[in-house]
Amino acid sequence: MKTLVVYDSVYGNTEKIARAIGGAITGDVKVLHAGEANPAELEGIDLLIVGAPTQAGRPTPAMQAFLKKVTENAVNGMSVASFDTRIPAKWVGIFGYAAGKIGKNLKKKGGNLILPPEPFFVKGTEGPLKEGELERAASWATETIKSIK
Ligand SMILES: Cc1cc2nc3c(=O)[nH]c(=O)nc-3n(C[C@H](O)[C@H](O)[C@H](O)COP(=O)(O)O)c2cc1C
Repeated sequence: MKTLVVYDSVYGNTEKIARAIGGAITGDVKVLHAGEANPAELEGIDLLIVGAPTQAGRPTPAMQAFLKKVTENAVNGMSVASFDTRIPAKWVGIFGYAAGKIGKNLKKKGGNLILPPEPFFVKGTEGPLKEGELERAASWATETIKSIK
């Protein structure tokens, strides 16, 4: 099975989550920054996992730019999953979160969203990640794989 994990990260926390996800998946796995993920990379991919930090309730600009480049043809019928990093404060929720918006974008293009968008938590704007989040990311990746088999 071929998996592509595409992430953006400003302070490094989302990158750590993306790499934990990539490390937990067996088979052919590539983990790429949104800036280096050319849409041609999507060819032949069985599972696409996309994650970004939540900034102002949305994915970061680099992730938005990547999503803009992803055409309907590229993800139609493909298994997809999304995640984000965010602060565990209730007030920020009024703006929404990156993972839901990424998931919605991929679903609109025909992607088969196999699990609900998943949040991972940082303790502050620059991190660090809350304890246990890397382990939780690895288990989430395993769950993701199970739901497509
Ligand atoms: C400009 C800016 C806006 C942010 N807006 C939100 C937000 O709306 N909701 C939230 O939960 N976290 C918000 N955060 C916190 C980020 O989610 C946090 O910096 C990110 O998870 C860290 O991931 P990274 O290390 O991969 O960049 C914001 C951070 C910045 C710098």
